[in-house]
Amino acid sequence: MANFVDKYCEFPTMLRRPMWRVWHNLLIRFDKDSTVNFMNYGYAPLNGDKPLELNAEDETDRYCIQLYHHVVNSVELENKRVIEVGSGRGGGASFISRYFKPLKYTGIDISANVIKFCNSFYRVPGLSFVEGRAEKIPMPDASCDAVVNVESARCYSNIKTFFNEVNRVLADKGNFLFADMIEKEEVDGIRGKLMECGFVIKSEKDITKNVALGLELDTRRREEQIERKIPGILKKSFASFAGTKGTARFDSFKNGKFEYRSFVLEKQ
Ligand SMILES: C[S@@+](CC[C@H](N)C(=O)[O-])C[C@H]1O[C@@H](n2cnc3c(N)ncnc32)[C@H](O)[C@@H]1O
Repeated sequence: MANFVDKYCEFPTMLRRPMWRVWHNLLIRFDKDSTVNFMNYGYAPLNGDKPLELNAEDETDRYCIQLYHHVVNSVELENKRVIEVGSGRGGGASFISRYFKPLKYTGIDISANVIKFCNSFYRVPGLSFVEGRAEKIPMPDASCDAVVNVESARCYSNIKTFFNEVNRVLADKGNFLFADMIEKEEVDGIRGKLMECGFVIKSEKDITKNVALGLELDTRRREEQIERKIPGILKKSFASFAGTKGTARFDSFKNGKFEYRSFVLEKQ
């Protein structure tokens, strides 16, 4: 099962979609106190850069929040219409809504149950969640000023269809704020597809070391959550998914198999 979790991107789309739904249903069932609000590997500043200032209630999710902050920080989001594709358990959507004050923030995810969870759990002005697929974003043409996408696109059935959809829903000069782990030899291909789909690259960063450090610093908290909430037989699979120390995912950031890249893009 842990092996299955590591390799799910290699499975046919037909299996990947139900897998996400099952995974969300398991999390909803086991996370009784609703403290698992992020599903990304996190980010830590290097070389003694100043850590992000956070409200006390956000401290436990510091590393996952720092990844979102890194992705959106260089763009003005105040009073803008923002959507997030692959919003998961909604922690990033809540962080951006509270700290960056967009006019409207819509989280979109493939799992109906996680959307239900997010709509009942978060009470933030302007924030809402709708079910939808990255390959057919449920928004009208040119209706968004920014699209956020964090650690979700790697396993979409067709990433170019997704990039074209982002381009369609963005208004002129709108921003696409995109970050994911990418196999080293695929980075040039992804960059090429972004440009083919009508985006200008405003910035591109290799943040692999930041993500690896974030994961290392956050491992204890992740292990503690798994220990406390997940039944024995599933612990190893959840550890693989969470990328804690000793898993193939944790090693893949250290051994160069994957790079973690962040892009700030603008619709041409
Ligand atoms: C690794 S989680 C990341 C969630 C969130 N961005 C975060 O950082 O916490 C990936 C999310 O993408 C969603 N997802 C996967 N395939 C999708 C698709 N084709 N369309 C929309 N969402 C999708 C999954 O349901 C999951 O919630």
